[in-house]
Amino acid sequence: MVTIQSAIDVLTQNDRGGFTIPTAGLYPYQWNWDSAFVALGLATYDMDRAWSEVTSLITGQWPDGMIPSIIFRSDDPDYFPGPSRWGKTPGPIPSTGVSQPPVLATIVRAITKGDAVRRAAVFDALFAWHRWFHDARSVDGIVCTVHPWETGRDNCPEWNIGLDLMEVPPDLAPYRRMDNKHVDPSFRPTQDQYDKYLTIMAFGASVGWDQRRLTDEGPFLMADPNIHFVLLRADQDLLAMAQGLGKPQAVLDQIEGWIANGHAASEYLWNNEVGAFTAREVRTGRFSNGFSNCSALCFYANSGTVEQRSRTLAHLERIDKTVDYMLPSWDPDATDFEAQRYWCGPLWPQMNYMTALGLDEQGAPKMASKIRGDLCRTIEKSGFWECFNPLTGEGCVGEKFSWTAAVWLSWQHEIRMKGAA
Ligand code: DGY
Repeated sequence: MVTIQSAIDVLTQNDRGGFTIPTAGLYPYQWNWDSAFVALGLATYDMDRAWSEVTSLITGQWPDGMIPSIIFRSDDPDYFPGPSRWGKTPGPIPSTGVSQPPVLATIVRAITKGDAVRRAAVFDALFAWHRWFHDARSVDGIVCTVHPWETGRDNCPEWNIGLDLMEVPPDLAPYRRMDNKHVDPSFRPTQDQYDKYLTIMAFGASVGWDQRRLTDEGPFLMADPNIHFVLLRADQDLLAMAQGLGKPQAVLDQIEGWIANGHAASEYLWNNEVGAFTAREVRTGRFSNGFSNCSALCFYANSGTVEQRSRTLAHLERIDKTVDYMLPSWDPDATDFEAQRYWCGPLWPQMNYMTALGLDEQGAPKMASKIRGDLCRTIEKSGFWECFNPLTGEGCVGEKFSWTAAVWLSWQHEIRMKGAA
């Protein structure tokens, strides 16, 4: 039985003292966007602890502004690739050399309503991180990504067009995967994909994690609707906080420029043939050909034309008729859809959260409540899993998962607040 207390228990069990791991065993460190969602859940019952989730993440920020995807405060032999494989990175704490979707500013804004002191305390760090995306990851005004791990959607079939262009060097240092020791390998990325992930890492280490070189010369360069829309939304939240804090005009102008540029870049990701926002390989201009669970984040970012939004909604309606639980991470009508394999099909709590929020804000409440309700049904049926099979509602990959408990807590809190109003 899923209760408020059982959700809090998940977060408490995964608490490692000031920061929270996603789940024991499989992911034993602090992950970037996981912690942002965890803060959202913690804020429903312990604001001080929610705040330490935010500030502990920021302590891993690099001098160039990047906040890495994982912060390694120890070296756990049960996880690969850990700090020894990433090598020396420039941040104050050992970390990965790539980032993750920057959802933090949006969540900071949501949990600090009326708290200018807290907002002021983290504003500069958030601003520097966004600037890093707009500088170090930008190619001709498009914010790109250099690694599937940076997108948070590791083995989504979207990345195949980029990975297929890569070669794995014969001298790639040997390694032993640990993820498949913790969970059923059929839930996880394939060996070939892992070799490519490690190949990109080896390139990054070879250039001393110079992020501009990684973007310009690295073996993988794609534009991702997830990073794009999450950043565009977060820029708007950052602007609102900057205005509230009375930041100088130059700061406001800079953020406004990012937002204008972001809306223009949405056009770059519009795949007219599919009728949706999809990923794109940047050096060839080739589009990925499928509808994913970040295609509809155009609503969350308040971007895209009326026609683009209505075609996006039509996809959601079609997919809703095909699966029992919205929103699958990959189009269930695609040949490479796999209901249990990580980002090839399962539905993901944090994606349902953002998608439903955007649909609600932009006038599509029916689909929003379907996407929210379906996630709640899977959680009630199976528990707080990392992700879920959209055909059966069964849990996949990691169990007792922090962001699942956190998203669920935040919705329960909203319901209680509305009831009390
Ligand atoms: C993993 O370990 O699989 C993570 O997704 C990398 O960030």
